[in-house]
Amino acid sequence: MLQNPKGTKDIFSTTWYQQQLIIDQFIQLCKQMNYQPIQTPIFEYSSLFQKVNNANTDTDTAKEMYIFNDSKYKYALRPENTASVVRAYLQNKLYANNENKFFYIGRMFRHDNPQRGRYREFTQLGVELFDEATAASDTEIIMLAHQLLQRLNISTELHINTIGCEKCRGNYITTLQEYLKDKELCNDCKKRLDNNPLRILDCKVCTFENVPSIYNYICDECKGHFNTVQKLLAAINVPYTINNHLVRGLDYYSNTVFEFVFQHPNLQLPITLIGGGRYNGLIKQFCDGIDQPAIGFAAGLERLLLALELTNQLPEIRAEDFIYIVSQNEKEHAFKLYNTLIANGINAQINFHYSSLTKQLRTAAKSNAKYVFIIEEDEVKNNYITIKELTTSKQQQISYLQLFSLLQK
Ligand code: HAM
Repeated sequence: MLQNPKGTKDIFSTTWYQQQLIIDQFIQLCKQMNYQPIQTPIFEYSSLFQKVNNANTDTDTAKEMYIFNDSKYKYALRPENTASVVRAYLQNKLYANNENKFFYIGRMFRHDNPQRGRYREFTQLGVELFDEATAASDTEIIMLAHQLLQRLNISTELHINTIGCEKCRGNYITTLQEYLKDKELCNDCKKRLDNNPLRILDCKVCTFENVPSIYNYICDECKGHFNTVQKLLAAINVPYTINNHLVRGLDYYSNTVFEFVFQHPNLQLPITLIGGGRYNGLIKQFCDGIDQPAIGFAAGLERLLLALELTNQLPEIRAEDFIYIVSQNEKEHAFKLYNTLIANGINAQINFHYSSLTKQLRTAAKSNAKYVFIIEEDEVKNNYITIKELTTSKQQQISYLQLFSLLQK
């Protein structure tokens, strides 16, 4: 079947370069803030993601995984990269080298219903920071995400929330379950009521009024942490909205969670370009002895591109000028020149055929070449090259010596 799978895309020419420009901005920013690259496999043992997104709860990401197996093990195409980075961090004992700030760029896979901005294969640009659970590290991560969007000139609304810590969240969950038990819930939320009631707040189908606010239930430490994050964001002029329905779709979060949301008249619903949060308990879940808090985010590359497209800001990718080398009977000499041009960093291409010069010149005229270099018997015998400028059709003969002194300039 000559058809790419549903929810995937072929990326080529201009779009490929446009994506690359976004990636370049991201890498530059991460390097500037001393984040180190990390690359993990595209698939992992499926137990990794199931452990992280507790498979017993109704976690969308766990449900959405592409699972496959060999005779011995079950694997999953990664639905996200935080779990993989944590695994790599622990397995390679990166903490022992004081390496604690990482960035990644990679394809992720989720078996979800595709729609605009939601694909089955997509690319995330993400960062993970392993450090003490301070409000300053939360702010750094949000600042990095904000800087990325600033550099791309994409305006969004930043939503932040706290979901408290392991200790204090329990009080709120009991109150929330009590409040929700006689409310009308969708089928998914009915299941969530017992094992993941917080996610109900995030449901796109159910709506509630006067939901008890988590801020009345969390401990003083969590409140203080969240207040300091807000003060630091204000200090760096990053505007935010507190959204107490924001809980995020993955199970591992604690304390600060955030999303950068993009709206546009051509979009039916706002889309989240960047989502992240703190996950203090996750590493302990893998390695009992290591109590290492962490925070991070991931941005969807395709969604960033969509936002640029909708705001008419897609970067212009100019086709590069080329030299087009043609020759009917002197391919060896032509190739020698071609090789020298390429070795000297000059853009060039050669006509592969032994067809007539007229035909080769016609092909050259249709390409994005600026100059055609002609090499035939006379040129070889008398050691020169005929150069034709395609826009003006002006032709001149120059010696190899002149050519190389010209190229040096
Ligand atoms: P997430 O909210 O699941 O978080 O995904 C982060 C971003 O990836 C989204 O905001 C969106 O831009 C993009 N994204 C997610 N799913 C799709 C999709 N199906 N198609 C296109 N883009 C998509 C995470 O993945 C966490 N690991 C983020 C994180 C890092 N939290 C802490 N550290």
